[in-house]
Amino acid sequence: VKAVAYAVRTAEERDVDAIVGLWHEFVNFHHELDGRLRRRRASRKRFATLVRSLLESDRDRVVVAETAEGRLIGYALGSDRDNAPVLEPERFGLVSDIYVDEGHRREGVAGALFSDLENWFRVRGLTSVELGVLHVNTLAQAFWRAQGFTDFVDRLRRDL
Ligand SMILES: CC(C)(COP(=O)(O)OP(=O)(O)OC[C@H]1O[C@@H](n2cnc3c(N)ncnc32)[C@H](O)[C@@H]1OP(=O)(O)O)[C@@H](O)C(=O)NCCC(=O)NCCS
Repeated sequence: VKAVAYAVRTAEERDVDAIVGLWHEFVNFHHELDGRLRRRRASRKRFATLVRSLLESDRDRVVVAETAEGRLIGYALGSDRDNAPVLEPERFGLVSDIYVDEGHRREGVAGALFSDLENWFRVRGLTSVELGVLHVNTLAQAFWRAQGFTDFVDRLRRDL
C-alpha cells in the first residue's frame, strides 16, 4: 500500500490556473476517445471564468487533491441541481468533472475527491447522484462502477 501523499480540500481562487491546466488534460483525454468532444475558442479563459463562478456559488462545489509539495494532481466539480419539476427527487447531485493526473492514478485520489462530493451532497439532503460518462471510457466506467453506480440514461447523438 502506497503512503497517502495528498490531501483533498475545497478549491480557492489561487487554484484556478492549476485547475484549468488539469481541465485541459481532461478535455484532451476525452478528445482522444471521441473526436466530437472539442474545445471551443478561448476555452481556457472561459473555463477559468466558469470555475470562478462555481467558487462563488453555494450550489456548486469545487474540490482539489494537493500533494505535500503543494501541486494539484486532481479536481472534481459537483452541483446541487434541480430535477425536472414533475419528477422525484426535487434535487439531485451531479458530478460534472473528475480528473486525476496520469502519474497519480490508482492511488485512491478520485475516490477521495468523490467521497468529499458525496458527503457534501448528503449534508445538503440529496438522496441520489448522477453523472455522464463516455461508453468507451473504460477507466471511468470501471471507477464509477467501483463507486456503486449503475446504468441509467443513454445519451445519444447524431449530426444534423
Ligand atoms: C477515472 C479516474 C478519475 C479515476 O481516478 P483514480 O484516482 O485513478 O481512481 P482511484 O484510484 O480512486 O480508483 C478507485 C477504484 O476505481 C476502480 N478503477 C479506477 N481506475 C481503474 C482502471 N483504470 N481500471 C480498472 N478499475 C479502475 C478500481 O476499483 C479502483 O480501486 P483499486 O485501485 O483499489 O482497484 C482517472 O482514471 C482519470 O482521471 N481518467 C481520465 C479522466 C476521466 O475519465 N474522468 C472521468 C470522466 S466521467
